[in-house]
Amino acid sequence: MDHHSQSPADPAFVQNPYPFYDRARASGDLFWWSDYGMACAVSHRAVSAILRDRRLGRETPAELRQPVPEALRPFYDIEDHSLLEVEPPRHTRLRGLVLRAFTSRRIGNLGPDITGLSHALIDAFPAPGVDFDLLDAFARPLPVTIICRLLGVPESHSADLLRWSNAMVSMYQARKTPEIEAGAATAASDFTAFLTDYIGHKRNHPADDLITQLIAAEEDGETLSTAELIATCVLLLNAGHEATVHTLGNGVAALLAHGPCAITGPCTEEILRYDAPLHMFTRWVYEDVTLFGHAFHRGDRIACLLGAANRDPLAYADPNRFDPTRSGPPHTSLGAGLHFCVGAPLARLEIQIGLDALFTRCPTLRLVEEPRYADLYHFHGLERLIVTT
Ligand code: HEM
Repeated sequence: MDHHSQSPADPAFVQNPYPFYDRARASGDLFWWSDYGMACAVSHRAVSAILRDRRLGRETPAELRQPVPEALRPFYDIEDHSLLEVEPPRHTRLRGLVLRAFTSRRIGNLGPDITGLSHALIDAFPAPGVDFDLLDAFARPLPVTIICRLLGVPESHSADLLRWSNAMVSMYQARKTPEIEAGAATAASDFTAFLTDYIGHKRNHPADDLITQLIAAEEDGETLSTAELIATCVLLLNAGHEATVHTLGNGVAALLAHGPCAITGPCTEEILRYDAPLHMFTRWVYEDVTLFGHAFHRGDRIACLLGAANRDPLAYADPNRFDPTRSGPPHTSLGAGLHFCVGAPLARLEIQIGLDALFTRCPTLRLVEEPRYADLYHFHGLERLIVTT
């Protein structure tokens, strides 16, 4: 396997990781990323196959689990019970419960809320000609408010949730420091304290929302423990907005650079393909396997580079061009296989409705400065998006 080195914090890479992916892909489906000390799948066919391969998974093999430092306990207490971090049979049970609560009726019912909220946010934009940050004014508030409504958490808590979520997801970036770890642990314990209290309140005040439905599953004793209930709420609140914020920002930047188009289903998919908000998801190898000509053993790790798969010229003609009319295989931005994004229908609805409202109401929307990506790899999202209408 060819070795390639590239610091994930290198400013040029942060702004545009795609040339590195192209170089790495030129040497095969898999390469060794020296800076991570890990094999990485870089072609569309390898990423798609590895995400679906049941001989690999997200849960750390038992013999490789490290003792967790006491200070980080609150963070890992949540992680250990998160459906994103476990494999069958626990994953099957937890995902089934979430899916039962995440019905298409419940998601579809959020459509009018997304429309109403998008218009309310646009109504509050500054006067034409005045510069403002579209992330603060639109891309950040939309997903967090919607996920609060879905779960049944009062929107007055959204500032706390944003703070906790940002601190917790920082643990997944390459540039992890002791301060980031301490911040994530504090956020995890504050988040857990809030949810414990709030779930207590909800037991006596049930409503037609996802937390109430998950509490019902917990109370029947067999299906969901309290720790799992809390971890599921945290996962939905964190996963439910972070990637959507980045997709809305990247999508607006792409549309403004390439010329706006009708925000249809295919355009939404192209937004997701063209500039994925999350670039790297890893898998543990559970048994000896040969993948694309390379031998792996139990305990090895492989990273799937979603952003690279989406720009593979063998999968998409002229992959670096934004083209809402393109054909080709499904993009990998929402994952694939067992852990495929549970929130995909909601994410798609938010992108489509939100950006349609934005471009319909603000046909003269334009960039005031070149968008800059934040140094948060594997997150690929903008620092700010200064525009004017
Ligand atoms: C554009 C926005 C989004 C993107 C790009 C995205 C991306 C992803 C990806 C790539 C995975 C799979 C990770 C892996 O295989 O290792 C995933 C899983 C997940 N996502 Fe999303 N997501 C988005 C929005 C959402 C929303 C809105 C929610 C919830 C309301 C959500 C909830 C989840 C959950 C619960 C999982 C774990 C599923 C499992 O492990 O079975 N996501 N997401």
